[in-house]
Amino acid sequence: MTDTPVDLTTRETGLVLRDVLGPLVAQGAIVRRPRATAWAERRQVDRTARRLLDRLRSRYHGAPLVVRLGARRLVLATRPEHVERILVGSPAPFTPAAWEKRGALGHFQPDGVLISPPEARRERRPENEAVLDTSEPVHHDGDALVAAVEREARDLVATVEASGRLDWDTFAASWWRVVRTVVLGRAARDDERLVAVLDALRRDGNWSWFRPRRPWLRAALERRIAEHVAVAEPGTLAARGRDRDGADAVRRQIPHWLFAFDAAGAATFRALAVASARPVVRERLLAEPVTTGRGPAVLPYARGCVLESVRLWPTTLAILRDATGPVRWGARTFPAGTGFVVLSAYFHRDPGRLSFADAFTPEAWLDGRADADWGLVPFSGGPVSCPGRNVVLLLASHTLVRVARLDLVVGRGRYLARDPLPPTMDHLGLRFGLRGETAPGEAVAPTPTPAPAVA
Ligand code: HEM
Repeated sequence: MTDTPVDLTTRETGLVLRDVLGPLVAQGAIVRRPRATAWAERRQVDRTARRLLDRLRSRYHGAPLVVRLGARRLVLATRPEHVERILVGSPAPFTPAAWEKRGALGHFQPDGVLISPPEARRERRPENEAVLDTSEPVHHDGDALVAAVEREARDLVATVEASGRLDWDTFAASWWRVVRTVVLGRAARDDERLVAVLDALRRDGNWSWFRPRRPWLRAALERRIAEHVAVAEPGTLAARGRDRDGADAVRRQIPHWLFAFDAAGAATFRALAVASARPVVRERLLAEPVTTGRGPAVLPYARGCVLESVRLWPTTLAILRDATGPVRWGARTFPAGTGFVVLSAYFHRDPGRLSFADAFTPEAWLDGRADADWGLVPFSGGPVSCPGRNVVLLLASHTLVRVARLDLVVGRGRYLARDPLPPTMDHLGLRFGLRGETAPGEAVAPTPTPAPAVA
């Protein structure tokens, strides 16, 4: 093992671009592109990426790998110790406001804490933590938040019972109603235009600095959010922030929250797919009581399932940092502005480290194994870790147990029914039918090439 980062050769850099960074950018870092995610699943791009990174890691004895892309230099972590150093050392000397992220998120949330300069971060991080109740498994307003889940899940279950089918568009429409209600209030529940505007800006975000800004569209988004914040009722995140820090402060953070809830929906939908393919998982989900009598229950197993979903298929494809000043690493010193990268999917499924690398193991999140491992960072780690983790797990777990009451058959279920699980899963392409009503084959839109099994 060596700790001094090594420069990759031109050929190796080309391979990293083709097999690792290219597919990641193609799928859309900020909002997924459906055709690209379908392609990524057919090609199982995460398996190819893993093989290449494994080869490079052993060729260079576990050293971090340095990739040069024009003037930009990126240092790729290859061991959990590297991940720990980068995340514990955030926001300085490793700032999350990395160059690519400022370019991407600047399209729709330039004042979000993630890309804020240090002085603004000092105020915005505690604001986020207070509103999202970061340390609490059940949010202060858990009753109201879970009541919104309950209402929408009931409607969704009725819709699926009537049609016999569930796909991403149907699930996402219901999920967004939950999200708009819990973030902005009842008046925002049906404001689909809000999400359409956000998505248009997120599509710009996929191009980072390479797509011109659309300030008029961002102003439209901000106006809509401000209108909802002004009237948001108690029990919403907006009201909590408005009453604590003022309407102006909270509305600046809301675009990030809305954007990030998309990932939470994807994670829930994938967990539902696994539960539908595995009766044992579904039975355990249904066995958890959803209320304690004093409020919403914590649902440890369902949370474990959601955490497994984001471990196996991370929604944050890469955690990026930029050096704020010179960084000494082994025998080298990197100048300010050097990029440091944690490729989540690579660490989350490393068979050299994890006995359960490709296996669905919610228990690992219950017995402390996952939390003790610096390579398992679906919600990041250290001082810049996701302050929304608990609120996500609350809403996602309560949605999961309620929708899992439907006896669903998932298309491609045979790839999900057993371990090892496929490295890449396109949640946008998942199709479900009701058991007994729809043959599994019919529940799936015919896919020309089924997801290949894991090697
Ligand atoms: C499955 C859902 C989610 C996942 C996997 C996730 C994961 C992450 C990760 C990995 C980061 C660090 C990003 C980086 O360092 O580049 C992060 C940051 C953040 N997340 Fe989440 N997140 C999720 C949902 C949410 C939601 C719903 C909210 C708000 C309601 C939220 C609020 C934030 C904020 C404010 C930050 C920035 C923290 C800071 O800069 O200090 N996240 N999240």
